[in-house]
Amino acid sequence: MKHLLALKDLSAEEIYAVLNLADQLKYELKHGIAHEKLKGKTLAMIFTKSSTRTRVSFETGMYQLGGQALFLSASDIQIGRGEPIRDTARVLSRYVDGIMIRTFKQSDVEELAEYGTIPVINGLTDYAHPCQVLADLMTVRERKGSLKNLKLCFVGDGNNMANSLIAGAVKVGMKITVCCPKGYEPDAALVGWGKESGLLEITEDVLAGAKDADVVYTDVWASMGQEGEAEKRRKAFAGYQVNAAVMAAAKPDAMVLHCLPAHRGEEITEEVLEAHAEDIFDEAENRLHAQKAVLVMTMGR
Ligand code: CP
Ligand code: NVA
Repeated sequence: MKHLLALKDLSAEEIYAVLNLADQLKYELKHGIAHEKLKGKTLAMIFTKSSTRTRVSFETGMYQLGGQALFLSASDIQIGRGEPIRDTARVLSRYVDGIMIRTFKQSDVEELAEYGTIPVINGLTDYAHPCQVLADLMTVRERKGSLKNLKLCFVGDGNNMANSLIAGAVKVGMKITVCCPKGYEPDAALVGWGKESGLLEITEDVLAGAKDADVVYTDVWASMGQEGEAEKRRKAFAGYQVNAAVMAAAKPDAMVLHCLPAHRGEEITEEVLEAHAEDIFDEAENRLHAQKAVLVMTMGR
């Protein structure tokens, strides 16, 4: 695996290889077995948006793998003053062994990969959040034993999470239904590709979409960068909440996932979130293990 820009670029075999290595690294960590597979290596982490999980899990992950991570807030490095991505890519390639970037435009992440000579990992863009979905798939597989033929229902905005969940689910053979209001559908190209597989369905009807789901997933109504639309979105998404009625439509043993941070009372009720806190915080933990696998598979070559 050269880079991780979007899950759609990976084969099913590569996704399973990440999940298997993630399981192994998690086991080793829990049993005190050292795995310094990136000894002496440095990861540069560029952030144009806020983060708790991504920053802390990547930084800790690099440390556990025997390397180090540099936190580079975009406002502190020259990117914030307009230095081109392509120059940043060429400079960082002379110093460090990999770059993780969280930013707005997917094309910036692609440009970084094109002009640099080192692996680039997408830590979230407006288009995709592949690291999150690898952790999500890992969590589902831990609970359910396998991924194939399960049904995941995503309720809410057709955003970066919906896009990456479509890509990840279709690749591993999981059914996915996205319940969203008109005008807030996921990326059109991904929807076309997903529908061709026969695994993706898009609906405005949340209860129909959640019927018999094994996994119910939601995310905020207004993503980072959309704060100005929050009020308008609150109205548009009023019927798109994961609550007791939605959970009653899903399978009795359905798990609930949320990439976090969560807005209780908006996309999910306090009651559902707390009833499924074990799923959701295992999911957050698995960011660490899944990303360590990605780091080893990209930077460990
Ligand atoms: N889920 C996620 O990416 O969290 P952060 O924004 O805290 O990194
Ligand atoms: N859709 C959210 C995900 C946060 C992890 C955002 O982009 O803000």
